[in-house]
Amino acid sequence: KRAKRDSLFAYVNKNCTCSVQMVQISGGEFLMGTDNPGIPPDGEGPQRVVYVDSFNIDIHEVTNQQFQSFVLATGYVTEAEKFGDSFVFEGLLSEPVKSQVTQAVAAAPWWLPVKGASWRHPEGPDSNITDRLHHPVLHVSWIDAVAYCSWANKRLPTEAEWEYACRGGLKDRLYPWGNKLNPKGQHFANLWQGDFPTHNSGEDGYIKTSPVMSFPPNAFGLYDMVGNAWEWTADWWTVHHTTDPQRNPMGPPSGKDKVKKGGSYMCHRSYCYRYRCAARSQNTPDSSASNLGFRCVSQEQR
Ligand SMILES: *[C@@H]1O[C@H](CO)[C@@H](O)[C@H](O)[C@H]1NC(C)=O
Repeated sequence: KRAKRDSLFAYVNKNCTCSVQMVQISGGEFLMGTDNPGIPPDGEGPQRVVYVDSFNIDIHEVTNQQFQSFVLATGYVTEAEKFGDSFVFEGLLSEPVKSQVTQAVAAAPWWLPVKGASWRHPEGPDSNITDRLHHPVLHVSWIDAVAYCSWANKRLPTEAEWEYACRGGLKDRLYPWGNKLNPKGQHFANLWQGDFPTHNSGEDGYIKTSPVMSFPPNAFGLYDMVGNAWEWTADWWTVHHTTDPQRNPMGPPSGKDKVKKGGSYMCHRSYCYRYRCAARSQNTPDSSASNLGFRCVSQEQR
């Protein structure tokens, strides 16, 4: 007879020495999106009733150490490593690295393509992850994220699963913990304080990523659902959503960009008010950057 399952458990992959905690989320109905979009062109609305089946989800973003286990076991080479560069936020670059970068993104000049930037070298060749093994892995494309999750016998969450998990059972709230950004003056997520992009005051304790689980979890026991690193989801991007009740929606069958959720340590109200559960943004599946990571889900019975 099967013992009653613990909702919180350590999942140990047979090919993986990493112990990854997941939490079981019971299926149910929730209100996805919002009728008061913070950024209307992002397709945050309309608010709609969505049902998702039960699933298990990593309690934190996949860390450098976890990703390293995957790479050591498989020899996997990320897309940023194949391309030879990745996008890094200018404010994090050393002067020698910055002086070698020429091209920039016109609409967002603080993003620079840096030769040799990758998950192992988050700010380019003169940086490393030695002191950041428990930080979220960065510079992983959607393809890389899918490869990691399949190796771990998991998959990326759909946007609906991700948002259901983010909301932690709260109805129609902005953040995983409620409607106030800093209840009682406390920081609940790794975001940007100060003036973007010139001055990060680091009031929340961090200028870049933080170790996973540095801020309080939501009611489902999930950490960093907003802030720290953006998280890839399985869905193709669209801004058009039906208000017909949906069961386990998976987004459009094809597209150009994938949906990412949660915002990052670079998000500030003035420029990236996207550290809300309903907020969303997009990147092509081969994109990678110094603020984009992921976590996995699974539907296996445990
Ligand atoms: C990692 O970077 C630090 C400085 O940020 C440096 O002291 C250390 O030697 C580097 N480690 C490796 C293995 O390159």
